[in-house]
Amino acid sequence: MTLLPNLQARFRQALAPLTDRPEPWLEMIRRAQDARFGDYQANFAMALGKQLNKKPQELAAEVVARLDVADLCQPPEVAGPGFINLRLKDEWLIERVTAAVNDPRLGVELAAAPRTYVIDYSAPNVAKPMHVGHIRSTVIGDALCRMLRFLGHRAISDNHIGDWGTQFGMIIYGYKHFLEPNAYRDRPVQELARLYRLVRQLVDYFAAKESLPELQRRLEEKQQVLAAQRQAAMPAAGQKIDKKLREAVTKLENSAKEAAEDVESAKKKIAAVDADSILAQLAAEHPQIGPGTQAETARLHAGDAENHRLWQEFMPYCLEDIQRIYRRLDVHFDHALGESYYHDMLPGVVEELRRRGIAQESQGAVCVFLEGQPAPMIVQKQDGAYLYATTDLATIRYRMQQWRPDAILYVVDHRQSMHFQQLFGTARLLGYDQVELQHVSFGTVLGKDGRPFKTRAGDTVGLEGLLDEAIDRARRIVAENDDAKPGGAELSPEQRACVAETVGIGALKYADLSQNRTSDYEFDYEKMLAMNGNTATYMQYAYARVRNIFAKGNIDVQQLRAAGSAITLGTPAERALALELLRFGDTLSLALTDYRPNQLTAYLFDLAKSYFTFYEECPVLKAGTPALRDSRLLLSDLTARTIRKGLELLGIGAEEKM
Ligand code: ARG
Repeated sequence: MTLLPNLQARFRQALAPLTDRPEPWLEMIRRAQDARFGDYQANFAMALGKQLNKKPQELAAEVVARLDVADLCQPPEVAGPGFINLRLKDEWLIERVTAAVNDPRLGVELAAAPRTYVIDYSAPNVAKPMHVGHIRSTVIGDALCRMLRFLGHRAISDNHIGDWGTQFGMIIYGYKHFLEPNAYRDRPVQELARLYRLVRQLVDYFAAKESLPELQRRLEEKQQVLAAQRQAAMPAAGQKIDKKLREAVTKLENSAKEAAEDVESAKKKIAAVDADSILAQLAAEHPQIGPGTQAETARLHAGDAENHRLWQEFMPYCLEDIQRIYRRLDVHFDHALGESYYHDMLPGVVEELRRRGIAQESQGAVCVFLEGQPAPMIVQKQDGAYLYATTDLATIRYRMQQWRPDAILYVVDHRQSMHFQQLFGTARLLGYDQVELQHVSFGTVLGKDGRPFKTRAGDTVGLEGLLDEAIDRARRIVAENDDAKPGGAELSPEQRACVAETVGIGALKYADLSQNRTSDYEFDYEKMLAMNGNTATYMQYAYARVRNIFAKGNIDVQQLRAAGSAITLGTPAERALALELLRFGDTLSLALTDYRPNQLTAYLFDLAKSYFTFYEECPVLKAGTPALRDSRLLLSDLTARTIRKGLELLGIGAEEKM
């Protein structure tokens, strides 16, 4: 058993006479913040005391009296208002670290009860360029797969690509009216992308024209309300500013600002076409392009032979386009069953929902009304069309039949949380109430201005350009570092290029994974590539530095490990490092309880810091005795392996030399 579960098991016994629901209290056993209070601390006595009407100190003493940890810890102490402080025995630490050194799994145990997970992530809408938002889903989903698999779970990755949506109506429309055959023959992916952008621009143009008067009316209305509210918030002579009124003004100001931006954005879309004679000409020739693209989508879905043939022709190009990015990111899927895969199952889903009384007809549409939901979930529109939700229900049914998973994780941004609440609610009504359905949601990627990350022209930022730029910047950093080495540069141009790739891609992934996934985060190349701080670059350099000790000392690690020298923890820095190394397994379990890879990045950062303290205080190659040197080399080796494994589980590489 790894450290934390072991301690928890002991406490479970000691708590048994007091409560039959010990879990919440066991979760309050944590790593001590300050080494003076020991290594671990249990601070449940205050809250549990309140519940049981006992004095916390007495309760803590009672638990300690029953606590059987003599083999692991020194006698526990009760401190302050009722904290239980635990200090692990050095013998025990040494025994565990030695076991980890000799374990290809680095002391991380397999899950006692392996589960089957389906992980639904990335899922871009093909034929549209992948954008910065997709990086979050791709990177988080991939890390979760890797971590689950390492712990012995079965993780089935399934890329639920959007391959059946309205974007195909646009491309088909474009193909039928605007195709440049030579361009399509020579560079099909680019030509399809151009058609998509062109049609999209024209559709947006007409939509903007239509909505502009209403947007302007709304703006004026908001400005009027704002003016009145400003008046009301003016303090009368001799009175103080009313805070509530002031806040209301600020709120209105923001809302008016947003309305003004909507007007601006619509005007921009209109101007972009009007100002370009070719586009303006096309717009004049295709006034019905909006409904026209919708009709093409409807024909595709209805099984129209020509549209279906075109779709089949386009798909390989679209898939190749996303595959190129996955290759660069080193992300691989077991399955890529897109929305189109479920198309034929949709009538059956709606039929079942109706037959079992789960869905009703309402204003011509078929809807599922769920308790506590502000709106029904629509599964079939008035015109007979099926929706995103219908496909997702068919997908759940398929996955349950195919793989019988214990859990299905959806790594999708937080704006879809309502969709997933409704989806899961309906799935439970359908009888899928044993499976854990989990929306692993995440926040938005922001630019430096704190708004969703956009290019200067206001477009969403393409994923491919981000990768190129990150690698480009990494190349400069790697070169500078190499040039600055005391003994002169060490890397060949090929090595530099290879390192830059690992550093650039790693930085991008780590920046994403190290965020609390539910928060929005600011995209910033400089921060993500910083040599110091919680970045991939820092971790990769830490790894290379440890490996460098072995190169410098001309040490054969295999021999070192095989020699089985004893580990000693004679100084606080060595002891602290050993304790960190033993937390790897606990960290992974913890990170997977609520699907938060940032627990792993935080751990790696702590580990690297512990290592550098150790490295400053404890000479390794110049240790006083050969035995001490071997012990410290073994700790260094385990650190390097743990960092490397940790990065690998995040989908990030590490180079021996940087
Ligand atoms: N294609 C969707 C989008 O880009 C995400 C799909 C997520 N997965 C799912 N089963 N709904 O918004």
